[in-house]
Amino acid sequence: MPHARMNSIDDVQTRLADQSYVCGRSLATVIYLALTLGRPVFLEGEAGTGKTEVAKALAASLGRRLIRLQCYEGLDAASAVYEWNFAAQMLALRRAETTGEAAPDLFSDDFLIARPLLEAMRPQPGGAPVLLIDEIDRTDAPFEAFLLEALSDFQVTIPETGPVTAPEPPIVILTSNRTREVHDALKRRCLYHWVDYPSHAREMEILAARAPEAAARLSREVVAFVQALRTEDLFKKPGVAETIDWAKCLLALDMIELSPEVIADTLGALLKYQDDIQKLQGSEAKRILDEVRAELA
Ligand SMILES: Nc1ncnc2c1ncn2[C@@H]1O[C@H](COP(=O)(O)OP(=O)(O)O)[C@@H](O)[C@H]1O
Ligand SMILES: [Mg+2]
Repeated sequence: MPHARMNSIDDVQTRLADQSYVCGRSLATVIYLALTLGRPVFLEGEAGTGKTEVAKALAASLGRRLIRLQCYEGLDAASAVYEWNFAAQMLALRRAETTGEAAPDLFSDDFLIARPLLEAMRPQPGGAPVLLIDEIDRTDAPFEAFLLEALSDFQVTIPETGPVTAPEPPIVILTSNRTREVHDALKRRCLYHWVDYPSHAREMEILAARAPEAAARLSREVVAFVQALRTEDLFKKPGVAETIDWAKCLLALDMIELSPEVIADTLGALLKYQDDIQKLQGSEAKRILDEVRAELA
């Protein structure tokens, strides 16, 4: 069943831009198709490239609720779908015992705690929610298999009360930072898109949207420097989030341009591993800055 709430690929780009999200043509196409065909989207890419953010921006632009299932090692079907409120069940039982009333139905909605997957299958006031299944690569194969089933019929089963079927399928976005390969079967169900680091021009647009206070000169240098850093041999390359953070740090220090000194003093906004920071200390930052300046000139 189609979701069909965006009129065109351009419409996707414009409406995400209204949420300060800069969406390239190919990602906008995938989102447009996903909405039109009612298919889940699978976004894979390095950390900090805007995968989680696009789900948030999409929910906001559609006026839909965002339901996020943050994946982690050891996440199992039970805690992704629902849990019984054991403490409340015990209390109700004890109360019934002391008052002599009939025992309550312990497996009714009163004692059910809905977790993200169940929540996403329930009717929502504004229409089907956006279900963000974030960082799926952190879970394991059995959980993937379970998800595959839940996503194929948009139904989850609670043994004590029966199946819950979504009246309208949620808009599903899965993300992976690719710390491991996700199983083909799951990917095949989805429209796949690799989210790359942005080009210089696009990162300038992102910075303009997220740190509009930064003057053009500083932004140009910041973006060019980060882009150059990404070509270095680093353990963890800076993402877009780091570019924005760094620009904000430099602004807070009233900088209007980069210098080797200020780069050295603020590297912690860009690089989060001591080995990477060490590599950039000394003449290395100056070398990259000189190259960047020569290129910008
Ligand atoms: N295309 C974009 N447009 C606007 N902001 C972006 C974009 N890509 C990344 N960002 C910024 O970078 C931050 C990190 O992105 P995020 O979605 O958390 O990365 P990921 O989920 O891919 O690790 C976001 O909070 C947002 O501020
Ligand atoms: Mg993320």
